[in-house]
Amino acid sequence: MDWRAETQALREQALPEIATDDHLLALDERRVRWLGRNGLITKLLRSIVSAPDAERREFGAAANALKAEVEAALEHQIAKVKAAAPDSRLTEQDDLTLPGRPVRLGRMHPISRTIREISRIFLSMGFEAVEGPEIEWDYYNFEALNIPKGHPARDKFNTLWASNPLGDDPSRPMLFRTHTSPMQIRIMEQRKPPIRVIVPGRCYRFEATDATHESVFFQYEGLAIDEKLSMADLKGVLYSFARQLFGGERKVRFRPDYFPFTEPSAEIAFDCFVCDGSGQKDGGRCPTCWGSGWIEAAGCGMVHPDALRRVGYDPDKYQGFAFGGGVDRLAGLLTGTPDIRLFHQNDLRYLESV
Ligand code: DAH
Repeated sequence: MDWRAETQALREQALPEIATDDHLLALDERRVRWLGRNGLITKLLRSIVSAPDAERREFGAAANALKAEVEAALEHQIAKVKAAAPDSRLTEQDDLTLPGRPVRLGRMHPISRTIREISRIFLSMGFEAVEGPEIEWDYYNFEALNIPKGHPARDKFNTLWASNPLGDDPSRPMLFRTHTSPMQIRIMEQRKPPIRVIVPGRCYRFEATDATHESVFFQYEGLAIDEKLSMADLKGVLYSFARQLFGGERKVRFRPDYFPFTEPSAEIAFDCFVCDGSGQKDGGRCPTCWGSGWIEAAGCGMVHPDALRRVGYDPDKYQGFAFGGGVDRLAGLLTGTPDIRLFHQNDLRYLESV
């Protein structure tokens, strides 16, 4: 066959074929058949070099014209198929009856949920939620809270010391904060009374872990400073907190305690929301409060006059109360989690179940 006849034959075959394809996959195969590396038109183009000198030009032009026509036809047909069936991306291999892949929804971590709930309750009483640094100066974590070097109260905070990337200065040691109380000082330095803040945040202690202790844990700190604040205000706020968090007519127990930065200081507990303080549940020991009837919630007290003086407040004019407790324990109680370490192991099977 001479090249004229061949070119014409290919045209008469290719164009009608392409025009009948109604599937993108078929069109793809068609493109390979005609224009692929071993495609029929590609072969035709390759044969141009062996045509007689006198005809080569004309042959080349005709073959390239055919190629352009077939390309245009393919494009036209692809557009047509797409317009007719937008889902023509689907192939015969797609089984529309298969169940869909589940979309996993994220949810809030139980600790975050508890922090939100604690903050919401204090916000409703006029407190503002603020956050502070987790890497802290010894000054704020200890000194300014009446815990100077050598003070025995330092022993109970098994401190993780940090090295200062700007160079260690032995007179200004740095640490991972062991409690949220340093924020009491920072806030008082920055603001003037009246103050009402709640400070949730991560704390660190270098200690062995067990079901109720973790070396990384969360606390919430409360601070209120105003004229004429008393222990009665502290009690009222914490009663309201207990009832909003655990419901009912929760009682609050105050027992004397000692903290260097509050005077007087107390330890607070709420009567158990599971056994209503009886310590008994279903004929046995209540598993939530371990039979004591009380749930220890926080340390608290009236802000020490020395701490007020240190930030330039006049203790004869201003008083304040403060409290600080563990978030993980409350989260454990609210979700029925027997071991707070479960909160930090990132086992989604557990975290999704509470
Ligand atoms: N920061 C103390 C701790 O971690 C708890 C505490 C006690 C906080 C008394 C206070 C307070 O605000 O007034 O053991």
